[in-house]
Amino acid sequence: MSTSQAKPKYYLTTPLYYTNGLPHIGHTYSTIVADVIRRYKRMRGFDVVMTTGADEHGVNVERSAKKAGKSPQEFSTEMVVQWKQLWADLGIAGDEFIRTTDEKHHRTVQWLFKRCRENGYIEKGSYTGQYCVHDNAYVLDAAPGDPCPDCGRPTETVTEENYFFTLSEFQQKLLDFYAANPDFIQPESRRNEVVSFVQGGLKNLSITRTSIRWGIPVPGEAPHVFYVWFDALIGYLSAVGGPDYDDRELWPADLHLVGKDIIRFHAVYWPAFLMGADLPLPGQIWAHGWFLYDSEKMSKSRGNVVRPRPIVGALGIEPLRYYLLREIVFGQDGSFSYDGLVTRYNSDLANGLGNLASRTLTMIERYCSGEIPKPGTAKSREGDVPGTADFAAEALAKIMHFYDRNSFSLALEAIWEQIAAIDKYITTEKPWALAEKPEDRGHLETVLYTAAEALRIVAALAHPVLPQATQKIWKQLGLSEPLGKYQMDLLTWGQLKPGTKIEKPEAIFPRVDKSETIARIEAMEEEQNKPPEPQATPAGTTAGATAAAAAPAAAAKIGIEDFAKVEMRVGLVKSAERVPGADKLLQLQVDIGDEVRQIVAGLALAYKPETLVGRKVVVVVNLQPRKLRGVESNGMIVAAAAGPDGSPVLAGFLEEVPVGSKLK
Ligand code: MSP
Repeated sequence: MSTSQAKPKYYLTTPLYYTNGLPHIGHTYSTIVADVIRRYKRMRGFDVVMTTGADEHGVNVERSAKKAGKSPQEFSTEMVVQWKQLWADLGIAGDEFIRTTDEKHHRTVQWLFKRCRENGYIEKGSYTGQYCVHDNAYVLDAAPGDPCPDCGRPTETVTEENYFFTLSEFQQKLLDFYAANPDFIQPESRRNEVVSFVQGGLKNLSITRTSIRWGIPVPGEAPHVFYVWFDALIGYLSAVGGPDYDDRELWPADLHLVGKDIIRFHAVYWPAFLMGADLPLPGQIWAHGWFLYDSEKMSKSRGNVVRPRPIVGALGIEPLRYYLLREIVFGQDGSFSYDGLVTRYNSDLANGLGNLASRTLTMIERYCSGEIPKPGTAKSREGDVPGTADFAAEALAKIMHFYDRNSFSLALEAIWEQIAAIDKYITTEKPWALAEKPEDRGHLETVLYTAAEALRIVAALAHPVLPQATQKIWKQLGLSEPLGKYQMDLLTWGQLKPGTKIEKPEAIFPRVDKSETIARIEAMEEEQNKPPEPQATPAGTTAGATAAAAAPAAAAKIGIEDFAKVEMRVGLVKSAERVPGADKLLQLQVDIGDEVRQIVAGLALAYKPETLVGRKVVVVVNLQPRKLRGVESNGMIVAAAAGPDGSPVLAGFLEEVPVGSKLK
């Protein structure tokens, strides 16, 4: 692929995601935002390339691979297949996908290291520090035993011989760079944070490890491998040519889009590495906020993640895109809720854009034989005409300005103001009444032309966020050109040609029943969360050996220390009832000795709720809580998948055992 000479290039990236888990709404959000910017920039005349990818090295991936009984390479490759498939299914696959295990990436990392070394910015040393394995970062100024300030997990004391990047030498250079490029870090609040962090002084950064194998080798320095940030960040450059970046003329990147959790690495380390290697620096780092669920950052380890597939299965990708961009102010945190998602769907997409499109097109079909009418001579009633050149020009400028600043929620708000204005105009002008009097024909045609032309403009403006729906509207308006190739700068009032044959109107966003839709999403989620075959067991129960239940058939043996992580106790079922709308689920209150736990278990097909009350069961008590059909479950009941069709048979005891006793 080469960039055309005529158009200016725009190169943007998403973070390269860790492959120790699968994407949730947080990752999906970053990638969707990048996709929106990519589509918007294309409609503004740029030759856009978007890179996404996988950050595959590091302890977390190595651990997850071990748990699954696979080599890190094998495990990570399987995960990458799933990530790529999801992005493709959601239509947000990007143009380049870089894996940190790609050979071209290895070459680029080694080359960048060599350049930094030749420039005198690499030193050997030994480092002892508190390290957060989860976040792959040292926690500066932490004492042994201190928790990681980001994730709260205990830090580990690490001492080893490393190569260091002499980050301390870049303090002033970075501060000068930020001052000369005030838009480099966005939003403003993050910029201030980063600047004061750098003003506080920078320590040299350890960039290699000798204790792990799963990384890119430092040439001629075995057993050193590059570690985390002097690996993943470089992926943005490897994706577009690495050492030969001049060939594609895409480097430096125009925008790195990241979550606020990794702003420091992008705004401090990355420009310093590039300065150290005498390479051009990216144009901008934009840090967005977090999607919270139950007031906490969504993360796999907290067990509060929302996955995209069930939502897409129930509503489609476009409502999710719209909701994520409309609901939170870009840059700030926001809460994700199914209720909010479906409410927005019905009010803004079904009743708003969808309804405007269908009423306008249906009336053109009915009153104008399916052809865009010629605006008549008769005037509309005064003050009710949104369809003037001034009106459109003003809205256009405002909306593009919001897109340019990544103020997506404001852009959408402004587009939906237009939708409301046209709706009001139609309601006031009453085309259905005008159609009854032949003398109002000119007036009728003005109104319907105005509505159709305004719909065309709205569709073009909303295209980056709703690519498929707006393309459908565009096509229904009789326009054949792919909307994605349309240039927003050419969007002026009055281009819709009278006489254009429209297509048969079709509902774009049919209204949905809120509780039924949420129940469907939760049911799909439940289905997705089931452990893989052949160990498939009912949700909330675990068959056979608990720890191994979710692992593949050929899982490696685990050490006693792994087994010891699973805490099981004898519990007494105090009450049991069905979970409404879920055939298999029972909601139980179980006494586990020192507390009564609510557990949702997939026992309903095998046990009547009343037969369980007073029964002793085995409970896994230290699992992350999770929600099933909206009901929180705090533990798991152990069962064998031994009944008919693999239905659960509860584990129990022949002798009398006190409630709360631990199993070992
Ligand atoms: N591998 C590193 C990034 C290296 S970039 C060279 C990494 N990976 S990650 O898989 O943990 O992804 C982090 C990114 O996912 C965040 O920066 C953010 O873009 C996105 N999100 C993850 N959870 C999120 C939310 N709860 N909300 C919004 N975005 C979040 O860090």
